[in-house]
Amino acid sequence: MKRENWNSNTGFIMAAAGAAVGLGNLWKFPYLAGKMGGGVFVLIYLAFLILFGAPLLLSEMALGRHTGKNPVGAYESVKKGFGFVGGIGVFCAFVVLCFYSVVGGWVLKYLFSYTAGNIPDFDVFSSSALDPVLYHILFSFLTFMIVIKGISGGIEKMSKWILPALFVILIILTVYAVSLPGAWEGIRFLLIPRIENIAELPVICITAMGQVFFSLSLGMGAIITYGSYLDRSSRLPFNAVVIPALDTIVALLSGILILSAVFAFDLEPQGGEGLLFRTMPVIFSQLPFGNFWGALFFIMVFFAAITSSISLLEVVVAFLMDTFKIKRLYAALIPTILVFIIGTFASLSFGVLGDILIAGHPIFTFLTILADNYLMPASAFLLCIFTGYIWKRRIVYKEITNGGRIPFRFEKFFFFIVRYAAPLIILIVFVSSL
Ligand code: PHE
Repeated sequence: MKRENWNSNTGFIMAAAGAAVGLGNLWKFPYLAGKMGGGVFVLIYLAFLILFGAPLLLSEMALGRHTGKNPVGAYESVKKGFGFVGGIGVFCAFVVLCFYSVVGGWVLKYLFSYTAGNIPDFDVFSSSALDPVLYHILFSFLTFMIVIKGISGGIEKMSKWILPALFVILIILTVYAVSLPGAWEGIRFLLIPRIENIAELPVICITAMGQVFFSLSLGMGAIITYGSYLDRSSRLPFNAVVIPALDTIVALLSGILILSAVFAFDLEPQGGEGLLFRTMPVIFSQLPFGNFWGALFFIMVFFAAITSSISLLEVVVAFLMDTFKIKRLYAALIPTILVFIIGTFASLSFGVLGDILIAGHPIFTFLTILADNYLMPASAFLLCIFTGYIWKRRIVYKEITNGGRIPFRFEKFFFFIVRYAAPLIILIVFVSSL
């Protein structure tokens, strides 16, 4: 079977930026910034993005394109015995998919509710036994439907209109939010550094680092997989700048949007996880044409979530197709059915299964901790070691520069990061989170 390809490098950028822009940007970034010293968090986030985010994104892209394989095959074909590193990534993508589609289901529910005009109470809805499970299944089914259409015919085609649409909606909403009286306080809250206690700094660093990885979809084989469908002539260093830039613009705008609205209505900016589903509905209920704004907002969140979840499913699909030589349809069906089942348990852990604990946590929380605190850092750490020490420097350089045809000014910086700085910091972060 001939391996599929993106139609163009722009198509790849849209798909990869679509993978990167997700719930992490619209939901996690604003509430983390709100919780962790505003501008302090934003500054540290930006520093880590440049220091680790972009270089590791470049490594994953290079590894994917160099080998043209799924994550397990990619590591294995560069160095025998290292396939397991890709295996951690594939497993992590699957775990994330299980809880991501639960939240994706909530987003769908809110989208439909705003269209219909009756908004549920979040706690009642998320803890009920039927509704959230059905929406979770619907969300994973939509993901499945796009992925079975393939790379250029499904993922690229969808991402190419979804991402621009998302930007347009985000800009409209942000302009509106900023024009609300009192919004300025929200922007100050997001951007002005404030730190009451220097002892908070390590926690902020750790959180910002995890957020960079999650937001750029690193350590889950997603960029390796998408990179494996890339054309030899595309410019990897350029992509490694554009994708993080797009991702960060969305994160900052949604921070401005959400915090402006929260301050304009005198609500609590530290609403944490509830910011999207509890706090935002309060705002929409007080705005003129609130249901319209609510629907627009949740369409945007849905767009962001679905392009990320297709990338997660594609990681598993590429692995199954390459390894077992099965058709795309079956390779997508198997993980989707498993996601139906495990996601259902995760969803029910907000209600009837709330008492079942794994390692002391309800199922949903356990899955997020497993992925965020263990699988992702492990796989990112091993990616650095692999690119820095196992893979031959000359070959990495050749891949990044398209055989010496394009300049790569950051060569020294890049190798310093992957060999020393990134693994060391990931290790510190990992150990201190134990
Ligand atoms: N980057 C996505 C987000 O910010 C999450 C994600 C991680 C998607 C890994 C795909 C792979 O929401």
